[in-house]
Amino acid sequence: MQRSKISIIGAGNVGATCAHWAATKELGDIVLLDIPDKVGVAQGKALDLACCGPLERFDANIVGTSDYKDIAGSEVIILTAGLPRKPGMSRDDLIQTNVKIVRSVSEKIAEFAPDSTIIVVSNPLDAMVYTAWKVTGFPTNRVMGQAGALDVARYRAFLAMEIGCSIEDISALLLGGHGDDMVPLPRLTSVHGVPITDLLPMETVTACVDRAKAGGGEIVKLMGTSAFYAPASGSVQMAEAIIKDKKRIIPTAAFCDKEFGVGGYFVGVPAVLGTGGMEKVIEFVLTDDEQALFNESASHVKDLVAVVKKMFPELA
Ligand code: NAI
Ligand code: 2OP
Repeated sequence: MQRSKISIIGAGNVGATCAHWAATKELGDIVLLDIPDKVGVAQGKALDLACCGPLERFDANIVGTSDYKDIAGSEVIILTAGLPRKPGMSRDDLIQTNVKIVRSVSEKIAEFAPDSTIIVVSNPLDAMVYTAWKVTGFPTNRVMGQAGALDVARYRAFLAMEIGCSIEDISALLLGGHGDDMVPLPRLTSVHGVPITDLLPMETVTACVDRAKAGGGEIVKLMGTSAFYAPASGSVQMAEAIIKDKKRIIPTAAFCDKEFGVGGYFVGVPAVLGTGGMEKVIEFVLTDDEQALFNESASHVKDLVAVVKKMFPELA
């Protein structure tokens, strides 16, 4: 059987860490691509990682490059190219620069890897997924964004710290865009089936919800750039679900037409990921309060997409 191939665009913090997780999970051969000025960085990181093979016991060809020909035949592409935020910046502040980068990268993906499935990571996430979809012309099941996998992991991690239990036993769900108005759902959070509200006071749950919402900013403030271990881990979890056809249900920035009343945008919702890419949105009834929060988050996503459309009317 031929190995799967994963290409990662952007060999910076998130991209290189995606390569690391993908290699240790032995998901397939890996291409790490950056701009020509940074090709040495991409090649150096690829070579360094390849030398971990004998230690970590993975078999994979890992290539650093700036040549898009090398991404041909990729099953999954993780798109991390773009600026990260600095302290004091919101994800939205990145849009003017990153939309141009994501647009040019997406053109190349469409040309050199037309059968791939794209997982977008660049921020502002939901608007960048829209951009990649419009530019590539790929069907909606083959373009999606990573945000919810990370955001829900943060939420679970903070709850586990409060309870003093294994993160494995915490089941949680989160909806909405990748912004500070994302919508964790305490009603659907449980510890081994026990509702979270039976185990922790509501103020503590709310504090974990708020910390998850601001989790990206907390890390930016600490280290001056944005997080990369958990974002990359979330992205590779999605790639793994697709490559191994696991049919995992993962919070994903997925195209929602009628689902949750969104009306044709990519927004964070639970989705089944498998060989068909984003195979199905799992829709369920929200309470009025949850729907109101979700609508607010979705309307923020729509505002960001409007900025993209204004910058590039051909993407409308
Ligand atoms: P970084 O600065 O470490 O790496 C970005 C890389 O992209 C650089 O190596 C740069 O040379 C490369 N790049 C720029 N233009 C390119 C182009 N046209 N083609 C190919 N490569 C290009 O940044 P980091 O920390 O890796 O973050 C990358 C992006 O991911 C940022 O936009 C950041 O905001 C976003 N992010 C998203 C998260 C999410 O959950 N969706 C979480 C963390 C970061
Ligand atoms: C994060 O949530 C900045 O989107 C990035 O860490």
